[in-house]
Amino acid sequence: MNITQSSIWQALQSQAQAMKQRQLRELFAEDPQRAAHFSLELPHFLLDFSKNQLDRDILSNLVQLARETDVEGWRADMFAGAPINATEGRPVLHPALRGGMPDDVAFENTSVKDAVAGELQRLKEFVVLLHNGDLVGYSGKRITDVVNLGVGGSHLGPQMAIEALRAHRKGDVAVHFVSNVDGAQLKDVLVGLDAESTMFVVSSKTFTTSETMTNARSALAWLQDASGLDAAQLLSQQFVAVTASPDRAERFGVLPERVFRFWDWVGGRFSLWSAIGLPIAIACGFENFRALLDGAAGMDLHFREAELESNAPVIMALLSTWYCTFMGYPAHAVLPYEQALHMLPAYLQQADMESNGKSTTRDGRQVDYATGPLIWGQTGINGQHAFYQYLHQSPEVVPADFIGSVAPGHDLKGHHEILMANMLAQSQALMNGVSAEEVGRELAAKGLGGAEIKRLTPFKVHRGGKPSTTILLKELSPRSLGALIALYEHKIFVQGVILQIFSFDQWGVELGKGLAAGLEPKLASGDLRSEDGSTAQLIEFYRRVTAGEAKAGSEPAKAEA
Ligand code: F6P
Repeated sequence: MNITQSSIWQALQSQAQAMKQRQLRELFAEDPQRAAHFSLELPHFLLDFSKNQLDRDILSNLVQLARETDVEGWRADMFAGAPINATEGRPVLHPALRGGMPDDVAFENTSVKDAVAGELQRLKEFVVLLHNGDLVGYSGKRITDVVNLGVGGSHLGPQMAIEALRAHRKGDVAVHFVSNVDGAQLKDVLVGLDAESTMFVVSSKTFTTSETMTNARSALAWLQDASGLDAAQLLSQQFVAVTASPDRAERFGVLPERVFRFWDWVGGRFSLWSAIGLPIAIACGFENFRALLDGAAGMDLHFREAELESNAPVIMALLSTWYCTFMGYPAHAVLPYEQALHMLPAYLQQADMESNGKSTTRDGRQVDYATGPLIWGQTGINGQHAFYQYLHQSPEVVPADFIGSVAPGHDLKGHHEILMANMLAQSQALMNGVSAEEVGRELAAKGLGGAEIKRLTPFKVHRGGKPSTTILLKELSPRSLGALIALYEHKIFVQGVILQIFSFDQWGVELGKGLAAGLEPKLASGDLRSEDGSTAQLIEFYRRVTAGEAKAGSEPAKAEA
């Protein structure tokens, strides 16, 4: 079925054209119940989507689109463990990691629930040992620092969650992250650490990712340099692995009892609920990690059971599809008004864009419509003093998610009210804008004359009509964070279903990996016969500068004009 041929698709296309002529404040004036109608209250938050460019008819047509694209059927298939990740031939079972799937789901005749429970228990025991000071380095000193070596889904989720749960830290083991193969990052982290009391967690689903494995080898070399001991002893004592390829981790030298596993049915960007979340359990305690999982499981239940009309992830997916695919707004900003959520935009960038940044439909056609959004953002307050100018006055429309918490995560007086007021003010300003008449009145009140008012007015007008959704958490806790992340995960899934694409593969990241592996030796060999002109020129320049440096010591060769 090509959904673009359906009458619902065409109806939404014409509604989008009409909606572009409407102002959000008119929509509020027309519908006194608008705020209540376009919002959902869930256990951990209020989802207010009333400041969006849609009305009741449009919402009902979007829900109809979800029905016609069989969101309910795909949802049922996911929770039944069907192999909905068809290009990789796998089911999508990450909700099982948090107890969010039916108990009887099995994979290759093994109970998923039992497998998950077993691994969680091992994780818990390991964290207890670490917190009790029972794990020691090569000289007998207790482990005080853990460095997670991983990238993408094997990094972003754990670090984002630890930052978010900074008010819920437990124990005194410090957790550090190295994701970049740029040795500067590993060096920066190691410089502050003691080799005798540092443990490394090699986090990699595949255990082949070259960035992570290179960092792991360099970390081992650092331990060897410091201790003078052989690799085998250090690997067995100061390395842990988290992977879906336990054999590879053991071949690398990690002891089987220090290999925590997860499974192919967990996508990398959905893996923070698995043993990949070990750094979260170390930094925040196992109980808080469990609470994070429980919060997500609550969202799984809501997503599974709520009608589409009142289903928070479905609503978020409908909004995103409405803007990207029908209204023609390709970007979406994520703007947390909680410092602790500062990594959420980066986390959601991977979750959403690696999932729905696709252009082939499930039946192999090229799409002739826009698919998932370009996700970007940062903490709202910092954004206000950086890119909000663009949100307010550029001709482009960038729908935004404002995310805040009623309870502050600190006890400093007077800060939180300013923060909240700013969040509310920004969504209001984007929605309402300022008309020429309002600008004129404001300038006249300041005593400006007619000519000056006329000259300045065009620059001060804000068109308004810029849509946003606000997610107002009661508090930022392990449970509410779990629910928030799962909300976005299911949003991504539903949007992929509506767009008729596969959300759980990531073929687009493979091409560059293969090319990098091929180019790496050429930096040394200079064999550029098969390279394009630009790549050959860049490598030649690289080689020229490197050769110049080698001759002239630390001074780089001068580039020729
Ligand atoms: O960036 C592509 C990707 O495959 C992600 O999906 C994944 O999270 C990341 O690489 C890391 O992969 P791995 O955990 O196998 O090292």
